[in-house]
Amino acid sequence: MTHAVCPGSFDPPTVGHLDIFGRVAALFDRVTVAVLVNPAKKGLFQVDERLQMLREITAGWPNVTVDTFSGLLVDYCSAQGIGVIVKGLRAVSDFDYELQMAQMNAGLTQVETVFLPTAPGYSFISSSLVKQVATYGGDVSHLLPPVVFTALQAKLASS
Ligand code: PNS
Repeated sequence: MTHAVCPGSFDPPTVGHLDIFGRVAALFDRVTVAVLVNPAKKGLFQVDERLQMLREITAGWPNVTVDTFSGLLVDYCSAQGIGVIVKGLRAVSDFDYELQMAQMNAGLTQVETVFLPTAPGYSFISSSLVKQVATYGGDVSHLLPPVVFTALQAKLASS
């Protein structure tokens, strides 16, 4: 059984993330979407809120589960029996750092990294830009799954 992980901060998950999850779900027997718990970096959404959103938007894929991890990703992969890390690549600018991480991770354990090209229509989307635009009143409704858009509106209204 091939088990892959899609790791990230997902603060919040975007339609670009969702596109990657669906394509990874079609490629591997089992997929874990894993949210990094990083106490040093406070996000807009609490980790629990991100987990809830991720569970809702991936509910249509029975082979996808959602989890958290802290520390090294390779240690999480070893503990869970995960052999493949999947990363979406939006542009060449993503490649340098992603290649560095993939090579570091492969050197630490035997874990492989697979890169999936982001769908062209999503290549400009990032969680941080979406938050920035939404904070100043820009329309990001087409960049987020509906449940995430609703949660972002509520979050910004309450902060
Ligand atoms: O969504 P992000 O913030 O770009 O995700 C980055 C993430 C979580 C995939 C990356 O920072 C990571 O794997 N962090 C875990 C710590 C770790 O393993 N660091 C060594 C990487 S070579």
